[in-house]
Amino acid sequence: MHVTKRVKLNNGLEIPCLGLGFWESTGAQAAEAVRIGAEAGYRRFDTAMYYKNEKQIGEGILRCNVPREELFVDTKLWYEDMRQGRQEESFYKSLEDLGLDYVDVYFLHWPIGEVTASWRVLERLYEQGKIRAIAVSNFQKVHLEQLLLRANVCPAINQIESNPMFQQNELIEFCQDQGITPEAWGPLGKGKDLSHPVLEELGEKYGKSPAQIILRWHLQRGVMAIPKSVHRERIFENFDVFDFALSEGDMDQIGSLDTGVSKRVYAGEYRFHEICENTVY
Ligand SMILES: NC(=O)c1ccc[n+]([C@@H]2O[C@H](COP(=O)([O-])OP(=O)(O)OC[C@H]3O[C@@H](n4cnc5c(N)ncnc54)[C@H](OP(=O)(O)O)[C@@H]3O)[C@@H](O)[C@H]2O)c1
Repeated sequence: MHVTKRVKLNNGLEIPCLGLGFWESTGAQAAEAVRIGAEAGYRRFDTAMYYKNEKQIGEGILRCNVPREELFVDTKLWYEDMRQGRQEESFYKSLEDLGLDYVDVYFLHWPIGEVTASWRVLERLYEQGKIRAIAVSNFQKVHLEQLLLRANVCPAINQIESNPMFQQNELIEFCQDQGITPEAWGPLGKGKDLSHPVLEELGEKYGKSPAQIILRWHLQRGVMAIPKSVHRERIFENFDVFDFALSEGDMDQIGSLDTGVSKRVYAGEYRFHEICENTVY
């Protein structure tokens, strides 16, 4: 199946479907990862205020010698700031730390706190041209339904955990039905299941690594992905997924690895099928 390097969001903005992630990418290593990423061909970088590396991402952007208008920089509003009415202040602090005068995608990081009030702030900043697309993260169907009842602007992206062992296919289909582009965080399952025999066999079959097989699988099922690495060879490896295609049968084989169970730690008050505790829509 053919995959294009860019995806058109529901507001018409075209963004790279493969970006570089920055959770646990810190200090000088984070700035260097931006530079290496740009060299490898990445044009999209995914951070969050919570990752405490926005300044380093900004430094990397300055050093990477790619014009700002060719780059896509994403960051996220932390839920304590959503809870305490600091949405706008937090957004401008992110802008300042990144050294930018707009961001490409701005996310509500979690459906926790004052969700609708926070979304209104994002809608306003979007109208003012400070953000090119507004989006959500970790919104399950129940959270999206509540937001969609109240939103003036439909979220462009829902960034959720998805990898072969925890796929979240129903949620992905729901997002696609709503015109919301799904995006996988932890797309490689944090690198923990790369030695699974099915992934290794497919790697041998296509002459690719298990990580490349997984990333290609995400893109072929219409899910954007933001793998993280701070290592040069892996940053390059993870971007080298546009020169082959998985057969339908092999897509199904990866599909069959789903356990339905996440191995990641979620905030204590987060609920997959209910509104999070003390959260207001
Ligand atoms: N919205 C949210 O709530 C949320 C939550 C978590 C993450 N995210 C975003 O999603 C991004 C990706 O998620 P993630 O970082 O948690 O997990 P991930 O991308 O699935 O995996 C990253 C881990 O895999 C290793 N790795 C990367 N490429 C590899 C390769 N080719 N071969 C072997 N190992 C490889 C990395 O190690 P090295 O760095 O040592 O190479 C790192 O330990 C984050 O960085 C962040 O931007 C968002």
